[in-house]
Amino acid sequence: MPVYCITGTNRGLGLEFVRQLAQSADNTILACTRSVSSDLTDLKAVASSSTHILACDVGDLGSIREFVKEAAKILAGKKIDFLLNSAGINPAGWQSSLSLGPDDVLTQIRVNVLGPAKTVEFLLQADRLAKDVRIMNMSSGLGSMQRSLELKPRKFAGYSISKAALNMLSIHQAGDLKENLPGAVVILMDPGWVKTRMGGEGAILTPEESISGMLKVVHGLKEEDNAKFYHYSGKQVPW
Ligand SMILES: NC(=O)c1ccc[n+]([C@@H]2O[C@H](COP(=O)([O-])OP(=O)(O)OC[C@H]3O[C@@H](n4cnc5c(N)ncnc54)[C@H](OP(=O)(O)O)[C@@H]3O)[C@@H](O)[C@H]2O)c1
Repeated sequence: MPVYCITGTNRGLGLEFVRQLAQSADNTILACTRSVSSDLTDLKAVASSSTHILACDVGDLGSIREFVKEAAKILAGKKIDFLLNSAGINPAGWQSSLSLGPDDVLTQIRVNVLGPAKTVEFLLQADRLAKDVRIMNMSSGLGSMQRSLELKPRKFAGYSISKAALNMLSIHQAGDLKENLPGAVVILMDPGWVKTRMGGEGAILTPEESISGMLKVVHGLKEEDNAKFYHYSGKQVPW
């Protein structure tokens, strides 16, 4: 009876994670969404009877703390086996390294980096992570130095900077969590270029293809995979 916790589930990749995982009645799912007052029609349509929809704005520390309290009540002693940090933003894609908006950069760091950092930290403090928890932080090919070097012209400077920072966060989490949870595995994921609001209609993959690939990777993780950077296809992404 595995327990999954997924952020950013009202649309996009997070929604597709819930849709696929809800097909097994054995899965308990904590489906987090920035706000429970936004339109949750799609999420409710895919949710199973073991799916719990909870508010968690990963850009707001107070909201993450409240979410952890609610999650603890629902889990009633159970722990999270899979934490899928999918929520993310790319609000200022037109900015280059020569025109970064300070507020836009800070907002991306708050949501894309501090969000997964504090979600893990507060869940650990509340003793809600299983001792062999699998944590997937959703990165991007644009978080890879190598992949960005190959892009001419470069793309999405602020977003890339935040995903590169998320990569380094994950390396630290993969080491630091071992002290309390020796079997924990933290990985980064590049979902490919996927047709969502962020990926756009011109993207190559459907959410279904990307998520089924990612779930295969996540379900096959072993301890020696700690701190690896995967592509949804199962290949590794160069740093
Ligand atoms: N699609 C791609 O091609 C692609 C490629 C590489 C990486 N990614 C990464 O994959 C992840 C999911 O992207 P996507 O394509 O599904 O994007 P999306 O369609 O724009 O959906 C983003 C999701 O994140 C949520 N979110 C944004 N800010 C949040 C916050 N502060 N707290 C909680 N939830 C928040 C959104 O909720 P609201 O509706 O409330 O804003 C929405 O559910 C992101 O981390 C993204 O960087 C996507």
